[in-house]
Parts: sequence; structure tokens; C-alpha cells
Amino acid sequence: MSYENVIVENRENVQILYINRPKVLNALNEQTLLEIEAAVKSFAEDTNLSVLIITGSGDRAFVAGADIEAQYPLDAVQGRKWGLLGHRVFTLIETLEKPVIAAINGYALGGGCELAMACDIRLASEKAQLGQPEVTLGITPGYGGTQRLTRLVGPGKAKQLVFTGQRITAIEAHRIGLVDEVYPHETLLEEAIKMAQLIASNAPIAVRYSKVLINQSIQINNDMATTVEAGLFGLCFATQDQKEGMGAFLEKRKPVFQGK
Ligand code: HXC
Repeated sequence: MSYENVIVENRENVQILYINRPKVLNALNEQTLLEIEAAVKSFAEDTNLSVLIITGSGDRAFVAGADIEAQYPLDAVQGRKWGLLGHRVFTLIETLEKPVIAAINGYALGGGCELAMACDIRLASEKAQLGQPEVTLGITPGYGGTQRLTRLVGPGKAKQLVFTGQRITAIEAHRIGLVDEVYPHETLLEEAIKMAQLIASNAPIAVRYSKVLINQSIQINNDMATTVEAGLFGLCFATQDQKEGMGAFLEKRKPVFQGK
């Protein structure tokens, strides 16, 4: 399938998805969201691909937010629909049973910061700036920002960022737990690919179950969560990868995982 507003590039079993509207700093309009959705679904179905990296085209932005020109004329019913579309796409990324890394190569604002927060791991360039400036536009965050930001940085910092609408640097974002690593701008993508390849070298089913388990930790109580963890942990012993991983350790060699 060919896309207009996203570019897809494969590096062996790692896929890079570029949000590609550099003239408007990769702002998200409806078509872009639908193309992200289609690209993520096709990544999910491709058994040769293990890890997805999402980044922005050009040198300035990851995503500078949802498209303000597109949102300006909306009425309340259209606004709700617009919010639900973003939730659908971002929840798809969050719940996808393969890891997704955000390589934040510049501005990640509003819906852009929310897109990064829907990913599993956030790596940022030193040039990146993050923020939730929605209240400066007369709206609340609408693609999950009030929820995912609160979980990542706690209610106090989330309120500070959302109420002030101020942008923060990658270093500050790292300090408060909004991004996981910061790299020199030039090496960000290379580092993201390295991390993706490291993840891809591990047992795929075990990685997949780990994502499910970590995601559910914020949704259900501890008793239920540990019961589910024990279930999926147990299920790993039904995989060839478990025998391979532990067998390789005992035989002092490198494991070769088949995802079976
Ligand atoms: C539409 C955008 C845009 C956006 C930038 N552009 N962000 N267009 N929607 N979110 C466009 C500009 O209009 C401009 O187009 C071009 O990109 C370059 O941007 P400049 O403003 O000229 O660049 P600069 O002065 O360097 O400032 C960069 C910036 C600023 C600080 C990132 O562009 C900015 O504040 N953008 C808006 C950020 C924001 O508020 N995001 C949240 C959006 S609301 P022209 O044609 O003039 O060259 C949101 C809601 C999510 O995300 C939830 C929805 C349910």
C-alpha cells in the first residue's frame, strides 16, 4: 500500500514509520491518522517484522500536534469524533503485541507528545522539545494526554505541564520520566535501531507477553495482575523459545529464537 503522509522503511526485522508532513512540522490530520493506523496494522500482521520505530520526517519535528487548521472549524460532535479517531489509533499502538519505540527527533507537542506516550519506549534527541500546549488553544489534551502523562510523570507534574502549556527540553523530560533516553540529534535513529535490534534478538513471545503484562499493571488490581502474570509466565513454558533460551544458557551458547 502506498501512503502520502507516512513513509515506511524496513531494516531487516525492524520497521521505521516516518510521519511525513514536514511543511507543517508533521501535524496530524485525519488522513495522516488513518495512514498511521493502516501502516501499524500491516506491521502487526507481518511475521517478519518484530519492532516498530515511529519518528518524524525532516529535521525539526517528531509531531507538532494535531493539525490546528483542521481542528479550527470543528463543532462539538465533530470534536468528539476527532478525539475518538486519535484514541483508536493510539490505543492500537499501545496494545499492539509487538514493541513500539518513539524516536522523538524534535517537537513533540499536544497530539505529538500523546503519540509518543502511546509508544512503549521514548528515545529523544537533545533537540527535542515536549509539551501539552492545548490549553493555550482553548482545548484540553484529547488523545489520551491527561491519562498517559499522569501515569508517566505523576499528577503533579502532569498538571504543571498541562495547566501551563509550557514546552520542556528533552533533558527535563528525561528527568521527570517522560522520555527514557536522550541522545545527540545525529545518532538518535541509529540508537533507536540498535535498541530495536536488541529487543528483536530476544524471544518474541516472551517480549509480547511482557508488554501485555506491563500494560495491564495500570488497569487491574495487584491480585488479578499477579494471577494473569503467573498464567502468561506459565504459558512461556509451552514455547520452544523457552527451551532454547534456557538450554542455550546451560550449554553456554547464544540462543536462536524462532518465535515459536
Ligand atoms: C498545523 C502547524 C502545527 C500544527 C506547526 N504548524 N504546528 N500547522 N497544526 N499543530 C505549521 C505552522 O503553521 C507553519 O506553517 C509551519 O508548521 C512551521 O511552523 P512555525 O510556527 O512557523 O515554526 P516555529 O516558529 O519554529 O514554531 C514551531 C512550533 C510552533 C513552536 C512547534 O509551530 C507551534 O507552536 N505549533 C503548534 C503547536 C501546538 O500547539 N500543538 C498542539 C496542537 S492541538 P506555515 O504555513 O506558516 O509555514 C493538539 C490537540 C491534540 O495537538 C488532541 C486532539 C483531540
